[in-house]
Amino acid sequence: MTTQEKIGQVTQLIAPDTTPEMIRKGEVGSILSDTDSKQVARLQHIAITQSRLHIPILFGFDVIHGYRTIFPSPLAMAGSFDPRLEENEAAMAAAEASVGGQRWTFAPMVDIARDPRWGRITEGAGEDPVLGAAMAAAQVRGFQGSNLADPHHLLACAKHFAAYGAAEGGRDYNTADMSLERLRNVYLPPFHAAVEAGVGSIMTAFNDLNGVPGVEDRLLLQEVLRREWGFRGFVVSDYDAVQELMVHGVAGSPQQAVQEAFSAGTDMDMHDGFYLKNLPALLEAKRISMARLDEAVRRILRAKIELGLFDHPYTAADAATAATHWLTPATRTAARVAEERSAVLLRNANGLLPLSKSLDTIAVIGPLAESGSEPLGHWYGDGDPKDTVTILDSLRRRLPNAHILVQRGVAVEGDAEADARAGIARAVAAARQAQVAILTLGESAEMSGEGGSRSCLDLSGHQEQLLEAVVKAGKPVVLLLMNGHPLTISWAAHHVPAILELWEGGSEVGNAAADLLFGEADPGGKLPVSMPRTVGQIPIYYDHLNTGRPGAMTTRYSSRYLDLPLGPLYRFGYGLSYTTFRFSNLTLSAPSMSPDSSIEIAATVTNTGHRVGDDVAQLYIRQRVATMSQPVRELKAFDRVTLQPGQSRTVRFNLKGHQLGFWDNASRFRIEPGTFDLWLGDSSAGGLHTTFLVK
Ligand code: NOJ
Repeated sequence: MTTQEKIGQVTQLIAPDTTPEMIRKGEVGSILSDTDSKQVARLQHIAITQSRLHIPILFGFDVIHGYRTIFPSPLAMAGSFDPRLEENEAAMAAAEASVGGQRWTFAPMVDIARDPRWGRITEGAGEDPVLGAAMAAAQVRGFQGSNLADPHHLLACAKHFAAYGAAEGGRDYNTADMSLERLRNVYLPPFHAAVEAGVGSIMTAFNDLNGVPGVEDRLLLQEVLRREWGFRGFVVSDYDAVQELMVHGVAGSPQQAVQEAFSAGTDMDMHDGFYLKNLPALLEAKRISMARLDEAVRRILRAKIELGLFDHPYTAADAATAATHWLTPATRTAARVAEERSAVLLRNANGLLPLSKSLDTIAVIGPLAESGSEPLGHWYGDGDPKDTVTILDSLRRRLPNAHILVQRGVAVEGDAEADARAGIARAVAAARQAQVAILTLGESAEMSGEGGSRSCLDLSGHQEQLLEAVVKAGKPVVLLLMNGHPLTISWAAHHVPAILELWEGGSEVGNAAADLLFGEADPGGKLPVSMPRTVGQIPIYYDHLNTGRPGAMTTRYSSRYLDLPLGPLYRFGYGLSYTTFRFSNLTLSAPSMSPDSSIEIAATVTNTGHRVGDDVAQLYIRQRVATMSQPVRELKAFDRVTLQPGQSRTVRFNLKGHQLGFWDNASRFRIEPGTFDLWLGDSSAGGLHTTFLVK
């Protein structure tokens, strides 16, 4: 390869910046975000037939939760506590995307997020490293399959390395600053799990971590990723992040930016063309070695070979063929089941849900009932809002003979006072005529996702007023929340009898919601993230350290707020069902273990109600005394079970010594002897309790 051809392989551009001449000269190794499958095929054809070395282009796209069939957001899916469901979603998304000509997805997003103000919280698995690691690995397996060379699979990309979710103040792109202990114990495990699952690429984070922007972080890219974890794939920058080194103020010129990023280990440059323009001079001046360029090129070519791109460079199908692969009954059913398993029942006073199908008048109120676009979220692949089954569509189909009174009430935001007042009055009138009011409230897709940070997480616009007015109308109210950020809904939590968190529910949100509302599916999802009472409590997460003065309402001198009760509004791992469960018979295979052995834990879960339902058994531990303060609880394992009325099942977990260790601030992994508490239950509070010893 000539030097120019090598530099081409480390360059990723968007199609509008790419000319046929550049492709012929081998100056573009990868193209991102081109969903015009005819154009994809045409550009690939130029690369294959007219470039000197016939190296195929790697087309990449953000296939985050679906390509044409849009599944629930990753945050929602994490709430399923069902990694197999997540794996299946990723496999289906990969198959749809490959028919569109894509072979690389910029997913999974595995950033731990403990600040619900951060808009990108919706793209990841929430606050917990063990749940996050399980969901990361599942997505890698699903996207990549067991044989990457199968053209229906995609190369996965774990992002954003690292600690992007810890942006200060929840403001996107902001600085993250944290101890090594926290980085390694909380933020890195999902990345490590993705690498262990064989992820083919890693994307660096925009943010600086302890003053070092992601693209030039040698500690992460060299020490951790390559030396410790043995990662063999390639690293891509985030969009323009090489250029942004100058804005961060760590490079004084484009050449310096490229030198920093490339020599630190960022193999491919996304979008800004900085490698293309600046590597020739840097190589000439020997400020970058040819060996380093060869290393990056080899990693990228290896990925192209492993993807089978040289054998099957064209995966984009014509429109007629593609239509038989997209939005099929199978993908739609999968999206519907995924949403049913992800939704979280937050409240169900007096068993208001499930509703009877013999209702004859219902009011459907709120700005989101008829929306096809908002449930798809900020990343919706190549999805089309017209393909969404909305809440209203499905209610009409489910209750063909009922009177359905539809009132938008207010917009998600932006209504003038007078319009809001009039809309609320109409909604209240509708509620008064109905036997039950179903309210769809929450956020528009644009209110979360990248650049979607919010300083206030209350229901936006006049939605809270609408909600309160409708509740005061005196009819039973079911609140369907449709949102990217976890919201602060304290009033609703005390006054609305039934609240179902649907998140950004995807193309089948309406069908799933109707199944849940009428009891054709049982809500079994759990919160993958704590829901705060107010933004003043943020950051808030269940696995915090104890402090020397743990929060207690009985004393002022404890770690709490004077003006709030302790804890979040709804805790991590929480979620109701239409049935009830009991945990009993907690047993351990031994009272103690050594760091290199394991212990078996078993308990019985019984469905004590009258309906079939799902519960998630969650195993938490805490080390009582160690050389560093330890979290008050840490999730170590979970298992979602489906039980018939009266049925019991034994859940079993194998806890290994290494799951009990922690990283210290000198990057040493320690498993320390001592007493551990263990809880087994169905949320991050309570549960059956016992202790064991590590010797
Ligand atoms: C910027 C985002 O941070 C990243 O997640 C995404 O993959 C790229 N843009 C490409 O769209």
